[in-house]
Amino acid sequence: MTDLNISEIRDKFPILSRKVGEKELVYLDNTATSQTPREVVEEIDYLYKNTKANVHRGVHTVSQEATDRQEHTRRRVQGWINAGSFEEIIFTRGTTEAINLVASSFGDRFKDGDEIILTVMEHHANIVPWQLLQRHKDIKIKVVDINDNGELDLEQYRSFFNDRTVFASFTHISNVLGTVNPVKEMTEIAHSHGVPVLIDGAQASPHLIPDMQELGCDFYVFSSHKMYGPTGVGVLYGRKELLESMPPYQGGGEMIKHVSFDHTTFADLPFKFEAGTPDFIDIAAFAKAFDFIEEIGMDNIRKHEEELLHYTTSRLLEIPGIKIYGTAPEKAAVISFNFGDAHNYDVGFLLDKLGIAVRTGHHCAQPLMERLGVPGTVRASFAVYNTFEEADKLIDGLKKIAPMLM
Ligand code: ALA
Repeated sequence: MTDLNISEIRDKFPILSRKVGEKELVYLDNTATSQTPREVVEEIDYLYKNTKANVHRGVHTVSQEATDRQEHTRRRVQGWINAGSFEEIIFTRGTTEAINLVASSFGDRFKDGDEIILTVMEHHANIVPWQLLQRHKDIKIKVVDINDNGELDLEQYRSFFNDRTVFASFTHISNVLGTVNPVKEMTEIAHSHGVPVLIDGAQASPHLIPDMQELGCDFYVFSSHKMYGPTGVGVLYGRKELLESMPPYQGGGEMIKHVSFDHTTFADLPFKFEAGTPDFIDIAAFAKAFDFIEEIGMDNIRKHEEELLHYTTSRLLEIPGIKIYGTAPEKAAVISFNFGDAHNYDVGFLLDKLGIAVRTGHHCAQPLMERLGVPGTVRASFAVYNTFEEADKLIDGLKKIAPMLM
């Protein structure tokens, strides 16, 4: 057991004391979005009340303050992920927009016949942006399979590279299986073929601190809202020389140096990729989420979540008819399961009546569902504020609803 005072941590999250009907909320849908601690919410409130002015646009004091706060977060992100420069940190609306940006802008150079490598466990956000390129270019997508534990077939991945391979894009942690992929090794394999990689860190950033120098990847993307931060903010890390070589993704204010109807020139990094007014309040408040994680310690968060994962998994397996999807030894605190022949929606609906929030359905990973041979699963996912009592409530809840489903 960790020394964390979970009850003190829970006090920072007012939503955790709300009720659903007559029942206390048991929030186990953290992979979809985590809850947000008081200090982040209070920061948003403070910023709206004191420093709301557009960033990088005015000499007036309030605009300068707003700009400083946004740029403080950029430096915070740079330090957090050990990026080489603040110019390598682009703010987006989320992971999805960050991947679309790379697919559209970096993908601009792909040619008919080129090949890119994805995996079967990708979220739709790391599939569809690449498919959109296929509207204009005859690009082939190769898909790496998984084994029965839900681990990627690295031999197949290795075998996919050839002289037409131009890109590899894969998730750090599966949002369904919880599998932690060997992304450093996968990056090294791609680089040995001269192929750049993007790592989708949406599910990793709440559980670990990715180090850009250690991973050596070309692009890394993640979202604030899954790591205790505000909604509407994503991060694209990109290696400077690649970002510099890429065309802008969207056009508008702030991403230009000079505009005329004859010729427009673009701003330097990172602003070249930040057209329009950014979500500067939420970006500024995102810095407080890093403070929150730092205060507890990412290692402590991960240890607590691992304990919850192992405890809940072993208790789930006590229940006849439970099938768990994803049993990799390297696994984050995400448990996807089905319960006998019951439909995942029915399980989720009945658990909700007990105040237990889990996600159901295909989890934006339909190719993975097809691979697993199921229409969907029930998914319980944990964060630092979850307790063993909540895990017990899930188990007791499933036992209680079993007679209605079987
Ligand atoms: N990608 C999020 C999830 O897995 C929304 O639930």
